[in-house]
This record gives sequence, structure tokens and C-alpha cells, in this order.
Amino acid sequence: MSGATTDRRIAVYPGTFDPMTNGHADILRRSLQVFDQVVVALAENPRKTPLFTTPERTAMIREVAGGDPRVDVDAFDGLLVEYARRRGARFVVRGLRALADFEYEFQLAHMNRHLAPDVETVFLMTSEESFYVSSTLVKEVAGMGGDCSRIVPPAVARALAAKLGSMGGGKTGGGGGGSGT
Ligand code: COA
Repeated sequence: MSGATTDRRIAVYPGTFDPMTNGHADILRRSLQVFDQVVVALAENPRKTPLFTTPERTAMIREVAGGDPRVDVDAFDGLLVEYARRRGARFVVRGLRALADFEYEFQLAHMNRHLAPDVETVFLMTSEESFYVSSTLVKEVAGMGGDCSRIVPPAVARALAAKLGSMGGGKTGGGGGGSGT
């Protein structure tokens, strides 16, 4: 326990956010009810090849945050817990959707606790509408001309249209691998 009542409760909300969906935005909103500051942290994940560049994803998230001074958007590589420590954050926020998330999130949280017992992972449950939404599905649907306007924020819908339009409209991009996002 840190004890000091003046301690600001800072959380890191990490992810690839390629792109941010309404599900992520919902978790961000919920986390702001719990924490004083939330750092949305774009992870450089070597297993993923994003469709959107880091500056593009950063700009979209900033727009979704709507200038809220409690939200910071940043990118990091290396270990998440080391980054959290550098940012003075004692909490990591992760969203839980369907049951399928549980095992992966359980592994991440346990490994992070092993690496840094002082950094606590907090799970927030995604709203029902976003239970089965993922960034990969959004890109697939948008790439095939489907309407994503109800599952992504307006800034993201516009960016998807611009990006996929400039790529010829029919390709989701991102290196072609099934898990590549
Ligand atoms: N609503 C909708 N979709 C959501 C969601 C929500 N609330 N929460 C997660 N998702 C989706 C994402 O869109 C993403 O979908 P995709 O795979 O189709 O792109 C998927 O769930 C999981 O992505 P994300 O939450 O972005 O996590 P990730 O697996 O890309 O990255 C990190 C997880 C960043 C936390 C992890 O890789 C990490 O910590 N990296 C740093 C290195 C490190 O410390 N490694 C050791 C960890 S123990």
C-alpha cells in the first residue's frame, strides 16, 4: 500500500489499437471513472503489422479522447511493466470481452505480476455491444466495403475510409498474415 492520499492514480491502457474501436473507447471511458490519469499506450508489437502508422493511431485516439486532459496518448516498446513504472503508473487496464480473452489476459497479468508485483492489472468489462468486436474484424469488414460506423468512433470510420480508399478499397493491408493487425 502506498499510503499517501494525494497520490494520483495513474493507469496505463496498453494495446495495438489498430484501430481503436468503440470497445476500446468504452474501456477508456470506464477507466476514467476509476483513475485520475490514463495513458493510452500504443505497443510496438513485433507480432503485428499494423494497417495504421503509430502517428495515425495516436491522432485517432487523441480525437476520440476529445481533448480530455486526463488522457495521454503515447507509444512504447519493450516491457509494458517497465514502461508503466517510467510513467509512474501503478495500474494497467485491460478490457475483457468474450470468454476467449480470459486465458490470454490471465497469462499476461500473471507474467506482469511476476515481473513487477508493484504494478496491478485491473480488468474492466467491455459493454455488450463490443463483446465480439476486434480491430481485425473491423478492418476486414471495412476493407470489403461493409459499414463499421456503429462499431468504431467517427474519427476511425473516416480514417478507415481514407486509408482503404487510398489503397484501392478492397484490401485490409497490414502484411497479409491472419494475425497481422
Ligand atoms: N473492444 C474491442 N476490441 C478489443 C478490446 C475492446 N475493449 N480489447 C481488446 N480488443 C481487441 C483488439 O482490437 C485486438 O484485436 P486484434 O487482435 O484483432 O487486433 C485484440 O483484442 C487484442 O489486442 P490488444 O488489446 O491491442 O492487445 P495486444 O495483444 O495487441 O497487445 C499488450 C497486448 C500490448 C498488452 C502486450 O502485447 C504487451 O504488454 N506488450 C509489451 C511487451 C511486454 O511487456 N510483453 C510481456 C507481456 S507479459
